[in-house]
Amino acid sequence: MRTYRLALIGFGNVAQGFVQILQQRAQQLRTQHQADIQIVAVTSPSKGSLYHPQGIDPAVLLNAIEITGNFSAITADYTDWDTQRIIRESNANVILELSPTNLKTAQPALSYIETALQTGKHVITANKGPTALYYPQLKQLAQDNQVTLGIEGTVMSGTPSLMLAQTLRSAGITRIQGILNGTTNYMLTRMEAGLSYNEALTEAQERGYAETDPTGDVEGHDAVAKVVILANLLMDASINPNDVQREGITQITTHDIQTAQQAGKRYKLIGTLERQAKGRIRASVQPEQMDITHPLASVSDATNAITYSTQLMGDITLVGSGAGRIETGYALLTDLLKMPDYSKSDI
Ligand SMILES: NC(=O)c1ccc[n+]([C@@H]2O[C@H](COP(=O)([O-])OP(=O)(O)OC[C@H]3O[C@@H](n4cnc5c(N)ncnc54)[C@H](OP(=O)(O)O)[C@@H]3O)[C@@H](O)[C@H]2O)c1
Repeated sequence: MRTYRLALIGFGNVAQGFVQILQQRAQQLRTQHQADIQIVAVTSPSKGSLYHPQGIDPAVLLNAIEITGNFSAITADYTDWDTQRIIRESNANVILELSPTNLKTAQPALSYIETALQTGKHVITANKGPTALYYPQLKQLAQDNQVTLGIEGTVMSGTPSLMLAQTLRSAGITRIQGILNGTTNYMLTRMEAGLSYNEALTEAQERGYAETDPTGDVEGHDAVAKVVILANLLMDASINPNDVQREGITQITTHDIQTAQQAGKRYKLIGTLERQAKGRIRASVQPEQMDITHPLASVSDATNAITYSTQLMGDITLVGSGAGRIETGYALLTDLLKMPDYSKSDI
């Protein structure tokens, strides 16, 4: 049995989805995966801080949030440790970094991840900020400290886009094309049904796909972050968001979409990475008219998809969810279970 002692940094949608999975599948994880997963610490600015070295019951955590919205009713050995102290001094051996994304500075997540790796803790994060801006440096820091950095949840949530691609690397990945943002794909699908850009945006906001400020999605910044993560992880590149040619969907009209439709094409916001001569990588995010027969053209609503073009296997397309608390919580679980077996009883 391997014992994972987790500290959860942030207890929002994804952390709660993950804890829900643990609550429902603890027995299966023990018998199928020989994984004893304990939560020893949780911290979230408005909910409180808990450190209990013997472990906190997932049901107690979820119950407290449902009833009071915070941790005040939970008994723990320590309730006043700040996030950095929990990362540095708790008995956690894996830090789940689940604080909000900042695509400009990557903070505060970056400092949390750095502290964790420097103090010999494995890190799993769903946060695109530090992974898009600093993945090569963080990967090196993890290697230097003989720990791992899991980032599956940063691209297509629990749909195993990174895990599959790691396998496909040996087939020679020459190009990656993806629908990497669910909000914009939803909007384009609805515009195809006749809605205007503004009507489609309002509907996406009402359904919880788009933020009140939708800039990150509609201007393509979110997709750019994912393109950078894919490039640096899978194509041995070292690029940053400024290296990606970017155009969002704000200029697309219902008329454009209908004209494309009449020509047997569909508008999709496509993230592309292409190997060029002398090891150069071309990276872009832009609306493209995809031929109706292309596998990405038939991907509708908030679904994500990615096509890996390889030398040995041709094109392989993966279609699935790109967000959601359970889906992203599942990504964390897959990262956890694939961590190398450093020791038989404890990781
Ligand atoms: N939701 C998805 O479908 C999805 C998919 C892929 C990736 N992600 C990424 O996963 C991460 C978590 O997403 P989420 O949906 O769970 O977000 P969320 O619901 O907004 O939760 C964020 C959590 O971070 C906490 N937090 C805020 N400031 C913090 C700070 N300075 N230090 C530590 N914690 C802080 C918040 O605490 P308070 O509530 O107490 O303020 C909250 O518990 C984000 O980076 C997001 O981009 C999410």
